[in-house]
Amino acid sequence: NMPRPIIIDCDPGLDDAIALAMALRSPELDVKAITTSAGNQTPEKTLHNALGLLTLMRREDIPVAAGAGGPLMRELVIADYVHGKTGMGNTHLPTPTLKPDPRGAIELIADLLRASPQPITLVVTGPMTNIALLLAQHAELKSRIERIVFMGGGMNAGNTTPVAEFNIFVDPEAAEMVLKSGVPLTMAGLNVTHQALVLPQDIERIRQIANPVAQAVAEMLDFYLPLYLSHPRGLPGAAMHDPCTIAWLLAPQLFTGVERWVGVETKGEYTAGMTVVDYFQQTGNAANVEVLTGINREGFIDLLAERVARY
Ligand code: BDR
Ligand code: CA
Repeated sequence: NMPRPIIIDCDPGLDDAIALAMALRSPELDVKAITTSAGNQTPEKTLHNALGLLTLMRREDIPVAAGAGGPLMRELVIADYVHGKTGMGNTHLPTPTLKPDPRGAIELIADLLRASPQPITLVVTGPMTNIALLLAQHAELKSRIERIVFMGGGMNAGNTTPVAEFNIFVDPEAAEMVLKSGVPLTMAGLNVTHQALVLPQDIERIRQIANPVAQAVAEMLDFYLPLYLSHPRGLPGAAMHDPCTIAWLLAPQLFTGVERWVGVETKGEYTAGMTVVDYFQQTGNAANVEVLTGINREGFIDLLAERVARY
């Protein structure tokens, strides 16, 4: 089996970093590039973190490029209250040994799509600004995209407002463009990522793995877990939002999902950034998204531990 070519557009971000750790030693995936979005932290910091993560993970061969400086039509909102001042919690990354690609995210992705003999899967774990710009500026390349697998939104669920998930909340207009694009979509929203829980004992299991990437992942989880344990939602562990995208690519059998129509509320007074999932098929709109609804948590943790042990 040929490895599946993917490009990861991310805003690292603690859970983005863990998603990268899972992807970058997975022979099933051929990571063609990492591009960065403004989201969890400023665009300068998410780019710097991506470069440092590739250095830590010894994948300096993968090109990295910076994306848009902020959302299409709104002011940037960051999540430093979740990911810390640098975006990496307390984790100190090595000084990057690689430089960002001068083309920038959109032109780099466009060049890779044009050059690839096979369509490429885009994995999006931050706001969708870069992908919306790509689709707008290079509409002819749509058919070169195999699928977009994204972490964002949720079914009747929010984490930034009562109804909006962070990635969609930051740039709802971009998300709506992507959802309307006609490209096949897989959505890992809060309804599934809130089941992808790392429990305290799982962090200890990862800490037992003697390599620098596993140690960094355990440290990131130490920073991330208390936020979940102290949240009124009452989850017993930390939600591994972004790693669900990579886990689905590696092991789709761990997930359940349904094909449904999904739209993004861009105008709501109280509901901007909400994903509206037509679960009961009341709108008559054709399904545009494979909405992931369930995950085998233990299988997911085994996969995570097994992948970070490969460094
Ligand atoms: C999403 O928002 C970010 O804070 C995380 O990295 C994840 O992509 C979860 O709502
Ligand atoms: Ca993210």
